[in-house]
Parts: sequence; structure tokens; C-alpha cells
Amino acid sequence: MSERFYITTPIYYVNDVPHLGHAYTTIAADALARFFRARGADTRFLTGTDEHGQKIEDAAKARNTTPRALADDVVTRFRDTWKNLNIANDDFIRTTEERHQKVVSEIWRRMHEAGDLYLDAYRGFYCVACEAFYTEGQLEAGNTCPTHKREVSWVEEPSYFFRLSKYEQPLLDHIERHPDFVRPEAYRNEIKSFIASGLRDLSVSRTTFNWGIPVPEDPAHVIYVWIDALSNYVSALGNIGGELYERFWPAQCHLIGKDILRFHAVYWPAMLLSAGLPLPETIFAHGWWTVRGEKISKSMPATRVDPNQFADDLGADALRYFLLREVPLGLDGDFSYEGLLGRYNADLANDLGNLIGRALTMTGKFAGGKTPAPVDALRESEAPSALLAVARTSVQEAAECFAAFSPSRALEAIWRLVRETNRFIDAQKPWTLAKDPAAADQLQHTLRTSLEAIYAITQMIAPVMPTKAAEILAQLGVAGDEAPAVLGRWPDAAAPGSDLPVGLPLNHGTPLFPRIDKARQSALLDSWLPAQSAPSNGVAAKAETPSSARKEVSFDEVSKIELRVAEVLAAEPVPKTKKLLKLSVDAGDGRPRQVVAGIAEAFSADEIVGQKVILVANLQPAEIRGVKSEGMILAAGERAIAGLATVNRDVPAGTPIR
Ligand code: MSP
Repeated sequence: MSERFYITTPIYYVNDVPHLGHAYTTIAADALARFFRARGADTRFLTGTDEHGQKIEDAAKARNTTPRALADDVVTRFRDTWKNLNIANDDFIRTTEERHQKVVSEIWRRMHEAGDLYLDAYRGFYCVACEAFYTEGQLEAGNTCPTHKREVSWVEEPSYFFRLSKYEQPLLDHIERHPDFVRPEAYRNEIKSFIASGLRDLSVSRTTFNWGIPVPEDPAHVIYVWIDALSNYVSALGNIGGELYERFWPAQCHLIGKDILRFHAVYWPAMLLSAGLPLPETIFAHGWWTVRGEKISKSMPATRVDPNQFADDLGADALRYFLLREVPLGLDGDFSYEGLLGRYNADLANDLGNLIGRALTMTGKFAGGKTPAPVDALRESEAPSALLAVARTSVQEAAECFAAFSPSRALEAIWRLVRETNRFIDAQKPWTLAKDPAAADQLQHTLRTSLEAIYAITQMIAPVMPTKAAEILAQLGVAGDEAPAVLGRWPDAAAPGSDLPVGLPLNHGTPLFPRIDKARQSALLDSWLPAQSAPSNGVAAKAETPSSARKEVSFDEVSKIELRVAEVLAAEPVPKTKKLLKLSVDAGDGRPRQVVAGIAEAFSADEIVGQKVILVANLQPAEIRGVKSEGMILAAGERAIAGLATVNRDVPAGTPIR
């Protein structure tokens, strides 16, 4: 293992508040940094915000503010969210900081001195949402960007160009010689063929707006935002050649989403080669979290999920565990509330919570509430040595998997020990041993062995669940000021947990992962479902983003939606929910339709019966809280429902709306 571990996340755009997608990268990077720190590597973990460029300037205009004020506002949302999610970054870089601008200018100067920058003019397409240039061949029908599906702009302006083409072969050679440069492997192949298909020189300055870092010696140009942003990984270390730079550059890992792989695996290394700086060891691309197949993003207001909400409701560590356990880093994953609650109950409440609860209860009952000493004569006995073997393998495998950037497999390896320890207790039956005075040693050794396993498990889960790990240690009686040292250390692979001190007074407090019963699940789902809920949930879509920031849709797209007047025939609350009403409506189908609507906080069942509302009639049917819904009704209001959309004359049910 490397002695040094410098890991970074992308720096996030400040036109958007943090969502689950951003949280995922940051949590994964945090867990890896914590693991490497525990393994003794000199570790540095960087995150930050990307604050320049046209996208931010446009977003500020749309909100009637300045880019600086927008950045100052949104950056606190990121900082607060990272705090809520137990992120322990060593530094936070903002691209508007002077320390960053200095290094960007220096990198530009070096590229210039290498003869790699020349002045010309750019004529072509630009997608502000990606902050990227496109050729016609890369666009989809109607000149739309393949990522954002929105029309790109045509740009014609004087621009400096970077001789990216010069680095085609050097990049291919580098990737060939460094198989770990782009991971996972599928992405390495993708990048190799992208480069091999030919690199064009890259436009690297803009002149039609000015929110950015001026080109040294030619301030009519601002440096292209990706050149600016990518440099953060170096600029956050201070001056090139300075102490931090020498200590941490090149980075061991740039962890990113697959959406920005090309910038990181092609442009960034080419820039570094040009500037005469060493290349990072690994660019690791993870997949996307989707909701019903659609990428979680800013333009998905109805189903976007606020990570702070989960941290408040379940604890940040439960969210961290779910995100890292559910999907292998590198693959896409579909997020569902049910999946989150299901894993919480199965893995955290049942397996781990239960193990700790019963081990502590029994130690309280049968060993005077203090961590017992091992019984040497029983060390070699069959069951404890079998559990020890599982623990050793678990410690070994979990370490290998974390080191290979596979937190989900690391957690699987740890859970094999959690489950095996539960089975060990089941088989040893301390409650039976306690009845037999001749089995006193066996009882003591059984409890000791279980607690040692728990101690090792606690150290191993600490990178993913740092707060819960500290709580477990507190319950084991480890003093608060000693806990960081215990958690900051990976268990000894030969004798995991054997360093658990003897005679610690246990503090068996409240359960660490209380089971979420059906009633609480309903209450949580109710509060997590957006006020009006997502379109595919059968109720009206929530407008969370200001309309100015919304995507435009074409006439064709709008005409796909079939709207009709519908009369509410009957209504009743959906049991165990606060917001949902089950409606029976006449939409002119010749039979009543059932629709679930998130309007119960604004309308009683009685008051809505007889009203004529507007129904999206061709929405895919869905089950909402176990109730079938065939369509959605339209309502006004941002968070709370202010009123229902209706027609201003009395027209028959079923009348189409055009
Ligand atoms: N500012 C650029 C990055 C510059 S890095 C030098 C940017 N910012 S972003 O705010 O759009 O964040 C993109 C990153 O957020 C992705 O690469 C990924 O790490 C994370 N994610 C955003 N949405 C995501 C999902 N739906 N799923 C998983 N990760 C996602 O691009």
C-alpha cells in the first residue's frame, strides 16, 4: 500500500444545491480517505466548489444576483451538507479563491511556454450545462446535447486553443504503461478508443462573458472553466513546488462520476503533460444514481432527494452505509426509499444492531457489565478459533477491497463476520452456559470472543459509519478521548479485536439502529415523498426549481401529454399517510378511474368530491403506497398545494385539454 493517499472529489458547480449524486461521490471519497488514514497512509482529502463560467453567470442572472453572491450562498449549502454527512475533508477549495487563481495562471503560463497555446477563433457548438464544446456529429437530433438533451448554442468568438492533438500518442502511451490510470477497466477502454479516434485542439478561452480567471497577458479572454476547474487539484496544495505540493502531488485518486470522465482522463493529463507536471495515479469513475432509471440531477426536481433529510431522519451513517453497500463503485444504481429502509432494517437493525445489543446485554447479565478477559486455555477451542479465522479473513478481505476502491465488497466481507458472530452466539448459547457453574470459563470466553469480534467490526466500519462506530465504542466503555485512536487504526489481521481492553465498564445505552417498524416507515415515506410527488407517482409534479432554471421542452414533447377534464366521484384518505387522497374520477373512459393525489393537506375528501379537475390521462399507472393510481391531477403551489387546476367554464368530464 502506498504511503501517501491524496484523494479528491470533483468540485461541484454552485448553480445547484447538493443532492444525493454529489453526496455519493463525497461520501465514497470520505470513506476511502478514512480507510487509508487508518492504514497509516499520509492522507489528504480535498473537495470544493466550481464557481466560474457561463453556467454560474447565467444562473446568477436568472436569480437576479451576482455570481459571487450566488457562490457565497450555495457554498454554505455544500459545507453544511458535508458536515451533516460526517465528511472529514482536509481542505475545501473554491475556484474564486486567490490561491487557486494564482496556480491556474501558473499552469497557463507553463502551457504557453511549452508552445501549446495559440490564438485563433472558435466557431462551433457549446453546451452551457456541460460547459463543453461539441461538434455537429456529437449532437443528437435538433442540435441537442447528448447529456442534457437540450439545445446547444452556436458560438463564434476569438479563442486561445490548446494543442491537445499533440498529446494523442503520449496519452495513449501513458494509459498503456499505467493500467490503473483509468478505472474501472471498461472506462479505460472507452477513453483509449476516444483518444485513438483522434484529438482536436481544444478551445481554452472565452470572450463573450467575463466571469472567470483572465488569461495572463490578454485579459479580454477568460480561461475556459474546465481548465480553471481541473487545476484545483493542484492549486489546493499551494504553490507548485511548495511543501504541500511536494508532499501530496501527484494525487493517488481523482474520484469522479462517469459524466466527467473525458475531462479528467484526457484534458487534465494533457494539460499536466504540457505544464511539465506529473500525472495522477488513478482517475476512478463511478456510476450514476438514478430514480426509476433517470439520473438524479438538478433538472429532476420532482424526484430529487435531499441527503440532509435522510441524515436527519435515519442518521448520516445509515445513508452512507446504504449508498456504499448497495451498489459497487463504478456501476449505476437505482435509488428507492424502500431499498434504503429495507437495507437499514436487514443489515443495520437486524444484523449489526442486534449483535451489539445482545452481546452487551449478556455481558451485563453474565459478566458484571465489564469486558471480560480471554481464557487462555480456551483460545484453541473449536468455535472461538473458527470465529477468529472468519475475523482474520474478514479483516484481510475488507482491507483489500477498500484499497481496491470497492467499498461495497469491503462491507460484504465485514458483514460475513457480523453474521458469523451472531451465529457463534446462537450456537454457544451463553444463556444456557450461565446456568452451569462448570461452564463459567466457557461463558467468559464466549463473551470475550464476541466482544473482540465487535471491536474489530467497529474499527472496520468506522470509515463508512464514523459516528456509529464512535457510539459503539462508547457503549463498549472506551473513553471518548481514546476513541479516535481506536477508530483511526485498522484491526490487526492476525488477532483482530484482541487489543480490546479488559475490565471496561460497558454503557449499554439506547439501541444503535432501532428497527423501523411499518408505522414509522409510512411516516418517513410520507415525509420524503415530495409535497405533491413525482409524476410517475401519479400525483402532480412539484416545482422546486424556479421556472427560469427549467429545461425547455419542444411542442412535440408537450403534445405527448394527454390532459382531460375529470370529475371527482369519490375520495378517501390513503390510510397511514398525511398527504394522500385516493380519488375515484370520471375521465370519460366509460368507467371510473382511481388516482392517488398528494393533496390531503390542502383538501378534505368531502370538499373535493364533485369538483372538476385536470387529469394527466396517459401517465403510466403506478402503485403509490400500495394503492393503484392511473393518472395524476394538476395543482398549483411550490411546496404546499395552493389550489387545483381547473377549467373556467363547466365542461363535461372527459373533455380533452389542448
Ligand atoms: N464542476 C464540475 C466538475 C469539475 S471537477 C474539476 C461538475 N460539477 S457537478 O456539480 O455537476 O458535479 C458532478 C459530479 O457530481 C459527478 O461527476 C458526480 O461525481 C456527482 N454526481 C452528480 N449527479 C450524480 C448522480 N446522479 N449519481 C452519481 N453521482 C453524481 O461536473
